[in-house]
Amino acid sequence: MPTIIDGKRTSDQIKSEIAEQVSKIRANGGKIPHLAAVLVGSDGASQTYVGAKVKACELVGFESTLVRLEETVSEEELLKVVEDINQNPAIDGLIVQLPLPKHISVEKVTNKIKPEKDVDGFTPANVGRMTLGWPAYVAATPYGIVELLKRYNIETSGKHCVVIGRSHIVGSPMSILMARNDYPGNCTVTLTHSRTKNLPEIAKTADILIVALGKPEFVTADMIKEGAVVIDVGIHRVEDASKKSGFRLIGDVRFDEVAPKTAAITPVPGGVGPMTIASLLYNTLLAAKGDIY
Ligand code: GUN
Repeated sequence: MPTIIDGKRTSDQIKSEIAEQVSKIRANGGKIPHLAAVLVGSDGASQTYVGAKVKACELVGFESTLVRLEETVSEEELLKVVEDINQNPAIDGLIVQLPLPKHISVEKVTNKIKPEKDVDGFTPANVGRMTLGWPAYVAATPYGIVELLKRYNIETSGKHCVVIGRSHIVGSPMSILMARNDYPGNCTVTLTHSRTKNLPEIAKTADILIVALGKPEFVTADMIKEGAVVIDVGIHRVEDASKKSGFRLIGDVRFDEVAPKTAAITPVPGGVGPMTIASLLYNTLLAAKGDIY
């Protein structure tokens, strides 16, 4: 039977470790970590994500500020809000929830965020530092995956890691992290994407398969090497009349047929997803302590 990599339990564990550190900071009269989240518009998924981030801050004893802006806010006004938070010494970490409305340049807004407060790890400074192996804020999803591999003692050195998907947020940084020369890295990495030829054959050579392409149940059992470790980053809602909610969540991997072939696998939900908020909280703690810069 494969090990089911339990992201929910691991993220709860990390949150309680962070809460413990906050208690110590409070007892010593230190700086309580403070996260500011900027939400533009009323996209349902974004509201849910930001709500969960703010709630998680409360849970671990952080301070938080939610700045809500109208969908019609100008780029200039948003840049001003970011700059004000950059300059506010009370705030340690700043995230601008994506996606942004079409009339606003994501590049300009991201580039405005002070790297020292960029707890999403999206700025060129932090992506560059991460790539160089310097201390950096690493984006929440890749960071969460690294932490799962560590906490489940997954052997990575010399292994073939195949990453499916080359997004800036997941696939690309994941390929860099798995190739670098410390644990959990030292892999031989193949980064695959929508133009890759013979993707199923390549996936089948993976000792560690990280799937982040955003296609429901794309990975099937015939694409898996016996004993592989499979990390599923996808999350999709599908209608299911048998559920009270009317839907269920599935990943990029066909879990039921893939799991029996693996040594370890993340489920959806309850795998990578819950780890992202734990990573954001951890980065915010690092920001308050001044541990990166
Ligand atoms: N939208 C989807 N994922 C993320 C994330 O990790 N951070 C931000 N700011 N927006 C997102």
